[in-house]
Amino acid sequence: MLMNRDVVLTGLRANNDLHIGNYFGAMLPIIEIATQTREDFQINMFIPDLHSFTTPVDHSTLQENIISNARYYAAAGLPLDDNHVLIYRQSFVPAHSELAWILDCFTGMGEMERMTQYKDKASKQSSDRISVGLFNYPVLMAADILLYDAKYVPVGDDQTQHLEFTRNVAERINNQFGNIFRVPESVDKQHEFFNRGQALRIKDLVDPTKKMSKSDETTKGVIFLTDEPEVAASKIMSATTDDMSRIAYKPIEQPGISNLLVILALLRGKPVESVEAEFINQSKYGEFKQVVASEMSAFLSDYQHKLSRVDDVTVVGAFQRSEEMANRVASAKLLQLQKAIGLRPKI
Ligand code: ADP
Ligand code: TRP
Repeated sequence: MLMNRDVVLTGLRANNDLHIGNYFGAMLPIIEIATQTREDFQINMFIPDLHSFTTPVDHSTLQENIISNARYYAAAGLPLDDNHVLIYRQSFVPAHSELAWILDCFTGMGEMERMTQYKDKASKQSSDRISVGLFNYPVLMAADILLYDAKYVPVGDDQTQHLEFTRNVAERINNQFGNIFRVPESVDKQHEFFNRGQALRIKDLVDPTKKMSKSDETTKGVIFLTDEPEVAASKIMSATTDDMSRIAYKPIEQPGISNLLVILALLRGKPVESVEAEFINQSKYGEFKQVVASEMSAFLSDYQHKLSRVDDVTVVGAFQRSEEMANRVASAKLLQLQKAIGLRPKI
């Protein structure tokens, strides 16, 4: 986009209760790029507010949640004063909705029906309550990505299918109308770029065979970024482990202990191997948990302190500056497509 930098783009749904899985899995990777290699990339971080009510939400708190999401990013270190780092609200850039409609008309029903996230979420509701928005959510997501020629899109593995669809629809349009869209890198290349063999999956502390998720009915296995540090520490202390009395990173045989090793490694910003080496074969899980609990509570105290210092005037200022730039880039891309498909005169 700007000065031909590669665009790294991601969106996190407006939600007031982000957890450490969202933080380490989705927020931190992009913030690290924004802070450590900022001269090489254009970073687009946006809040997909139009996506937020594809499943029922409390509309009376949505506005607060949107601002609150931006605060979370700022507290995690996203620079708000850099023209190569944009933070914008999707609905403030109307080209997203317009491109989504056009892409809808180049998308097969079958493609959407195959989406596992749709099937999962739809199976939990009666068909009259499943919105068309939930059904074609991936089309809007493709528009979010393609408007900015994004090359890298850090998302968890639950979004892999949506990213593959984005690549397909972009190729379909390019084949028919010439080179309009940059096709984002394949999921494998994305992982390579983010230096990971696979997407990170922090597991639930009570049931370490499933992922930590805010959609969980109980919150005992989930550490929220706003949890009191002592509460988070006690969740770690009561995390499910095993009876092998031998610390090792073995995600299949010892999912609980392995998850705690991963969490500690993330808190320290070190590879899991180095943390495993420090504790390998130790038998006292309680002592190990104490270390994880105390580092977790120190992390949360620090993060919450930063969160309390984020100033809303700066956040709103960053939104306005970013939305102006995002609108410029997105409208230019939309116009290019509108011309190609015959909605606007070619010259
Ligand atoms: P949740 O499952 O808590 O509702 P979302 O589906 O809203 O989370 O995911 C938001 C982002 O956070 C996605 O990019 C997703 O891959 C990432 N994410 C969610 N849970 C985890 C987890 N347990 N570990 C790592 N990343 C996660
Ligand atoms: N679908 C993503 C999620 O649920 C959020 C999202 C919407 C997104 N549009 C996007 C992520 C574009 C990356 C790029 O987590």
